Amino acid sequence: MSKKIFIVGGARPNFMKIAPLIDQLKINNLEFKLIHTGQHYDYNMSKIFFDNLEIPEPDEFLNVGSGSHAVQTAKIMIEFEKIIKKESPSMVIVVGDVNSTIACALVAKKLFFDVAHVEAGLRSFDRRMPEEINRLLTDQISDFLFTTEKSAEINLKNEGIQLNKIFFVGNIMIDNLIINLEQAKSLDYYQKYNLKKGSYALVTIHRPSNVDTITSLSKIIEMLNYIQDKIKLIFPIHPRTKKNLIKYNLIGDLKKVNIILVDPIGYQQFLSLLLNSKLVLTDSGGIQEESSYLKIPILTLRENTERPITIEKGTNTLIGTDFNKLKVNLDKILSNSYKKGQDIEKWDGNTAKRIVDILKEKL
Ligand code: UD1
Repeated sequence: MSKKIFIVGGARPNFMKIAPLIDQLKINNLEFKLIHTGQHYDYNMSKIFFDNLEIPEPDEFLNVGSGSHAVQTAKIMIEFEKIIKKESPSMVIVVGDVNSTIACALVAKKLFFDVAHVEAGLRSFDRRMPEEINRLLTDQISDFLFTTEKSAEINLKNEGIQLNKIFFVGNIMIDNLIINLEQAKSLDYYQKYNLKKGSYALVTIHRPSNVDTITSLSKIIEMLNYIQDKIKLIFPIHPRTKKNLIKYNLIGDLKKVNIILVDPIGYQQFLSLLLNSKLVLTDSGGIQEESSYLKIPILTLRENTERPITIEKGTNTLIGTDFNKLKVNLDKILSNSYKKGQDIEKWDGNTAKRIVDILKEKL
């Protein structure tokens, strides 16, 4: 067996999690190989993050691209198996909950390699979310389960995972945020769009449950139109959302008076927009955490969250597509009477170090 550790990344939300991990592996002189599955492939969904976050060029690019869940997952498995068999790494690290996460964990484990899962144990308890299936299965077969919040440990225990495999290390996305904060602060990226500091809302929407049907997407547009009457919006549009807006011919229903539509943007640029916003409207997982850390009010267009700490301690409120909840919470935010948020345990910039310290001992 080689001493080399494999790190897998595939989709946009993976890249901000692998960047701090790679830094720590380098500091500790641990040999690694970076595998990019190619699940996300557009420049502004992938390469821009490698450039922004100074992630080294992937050692292997599997180039799997889009497809149905079965096709995408299967293609990743076939290509990943070839590499892992050839190289016999000492361990495989997977992050998050995307198709690349489960695909590579499954291949590795069936060939008896150790698997470490960063961001383990999060549960929305909604098995209609593809990510929930990916989370459940990845955790069942992982050897090291690194958690971001206490609820994750409880979920894992309830699923019968042995306690000695679970490590509460904190949130690696926050490591990345802290590393990039000063640069983001210096950008004042909102000025590029003639926005005023603290007086706009940042929007991101891409979950299949919100954008894949005409009914749900129309509801979202109605909500955006309502908010536009109260505050300016900026909306970097995910490719899935863009495709569906075109497919259902809904672009015309979106009022254009007070909204700026842009392509997905780079990490520090997005962080700069987030830092200076009045509020965030999203269905993303990671942005619930980033906004909570920064204490920016965030309304989440989902019925559930796998990250309950962002509600208990953070600045997050679930509004689903309930207009009444939107109105009540938006009013609170705009009148500065919304909850302020508190610090969250171990979201402190040292998570990658904790992970690598644990792995070093086991290798
Ligand atoms: C994936 C993840 C999700 C994550 C999200 C963040 C799974 C199951 N889902 O969802 O957990 O929150 O990424 O972005 O792994 N597309 C492009 N260019 C790209 C990537 C995708 O045009 O670079 C298009 C694809 O053709 C596809 C659509 O966007 O039609 C969705 O891509 P896909 O990878 O299926 O899932 P995401 O919705 O991005």
